[in-house]
Amino acid sequence: MNKIRIGIIGAGNIAQNSHIPAYLKQSDAEIVAVCDLKLDRAKEVAAKHNIQYAVGSIEELVAIDEVDAVSVCTWNNAHASAAIAAANAGKHVLCEKPMAMNVEEAEAMKEAAEKNNIVFMMGFTNRFRADSQVIKEIADSGKLGEIYYAKAGWLRRRGTPLGWFTDLSKSGGGPVIDIGVHAIDLTWYFMGKPRPVSVTACTYDKIGDYKTKGVSRWEALDTDNLVFNTEDSASGFIKFENGASMSFDVSWAINGKDTGIFSDIFGTKAGASLNPFTIYGEEQGYLMDSSPVIEPQDTFANEIRHFLDCIKTGEEPMASANDGVIIQKILNGIYDSAKEGKEIILD
Ligand SMILES: NC(=O)c1ccc[n+]([C@@H]2O[C@H](COP(=O)([O-])OP(=O)(O)OC[C@H]3O[C@@H](n4cnc5c(N)ncnc54)[C@H](O)[C@@H]3O)[C@@H](O)[C@H]2O)c1
Repeated sequence: MNKIRIGIIGAGNIAQNSHIPAYLKQSDAEIVAVCDLKLDRAKEVAAKHNIQYAVGSIEELVAIDEVDAVSVCTWNNAHASAAIAAANAGKHVLCEKPMAMNVEEAEAMKEAAEKNNIVFMMGFTNRFRADSQVIKEIADSGKLGEIYYAKAGWLRRRGTPLGWFTDLSKSGGGPVIDIGVHAIDLTWYFMGKPRPVSVTACTYDKIGDYKTKGVSRWEALDTDNLVFNTEDSASGFIKFENGASMSFDVSWAINGKDTGIFSDIFGTKAGASLNPFTIYGEEQGYLMDSSPVIEPQDTFANEIRHFLDCIKTGEEPMASANDGVIIQKILNGIYDSAKEGKEIILD
């Protein structure tokens, strides 16, 4: 069988450290092209991995006939233009999170994917963790009963990324859109993806551009020209059509404990927490906590394997364009609620 030929759009950190290594592990995929605004970066990556084409624009990459599918790994402000151009050129799309800068862009991406009948998958990486898959299986089995409440989040004490992430015009937002997206999406997925109906939230920019010593942070490949005009923490509450609700707390910087990503779901029969992994149940009338014995897996390899399998089978990815749009509605609902100081009703 012919290999699936991949184009990488945006040759920065996540492309070089996660997407490219994960594709290289798959025997049925081959990276044939790479593009970056910085052509030298694209050329360097191409030379390192023996990739045939290195180009400096999205338009040039999607015009390459040999490309069957792309990974969109640019700053957030180019996700929509890259995904739509790729879809219109008939290429399948794996898009890094967040889907887009706003709901309008996300809906246009979904529409382009449907119109061109391509596979569109969201890079909701945390769904592809081995431990997440166990929680999902247990939640879907009904063992937790009705899931009526959940807590999601990720608090970093000092973990503001360096580079474009803090520049609203490139990122679309701060920790809500950067790491909140992971925690909220994962928890919503565990809950069985109920339809969100409203969001209430506050965002803060109280710590800002700190100079704390002795701590490390995620760095975009370019860390010059720094702008800081996003929030650095947020909290809020999401209500769903089925009566369930989710509270969330996220920060890049806050004067409290680092939590890592967390997701706690509460059901009528039992509860489940991702971090640390625990099922809070009952056995023989006793409260009983349990956790599985599972080996860690390469999450990005799982994600990219699923993308390739969906291309081969035509099956809808488990992180679909529709899921991306719904999560985008929640993310932008959070920002709208914080700005307007009121609950936002989602359609
Ligand atoms: N799934 C995860 O856990 C995870 C982790 C980190 C980052 N990300 C996401 O990956 C994306 C990239 O983040 P990063 O940390 O690699 O950033 P980065 O700055 O290191 O890399 C982005 C690259 O895209 C290039 N680029 C920007 N706009 C472009 C355009 N219009 N055309 C071509 N190239 C363009 C930049 O020059 C840069 O080389 C972001 O959307 C981010 O949210 C996801």
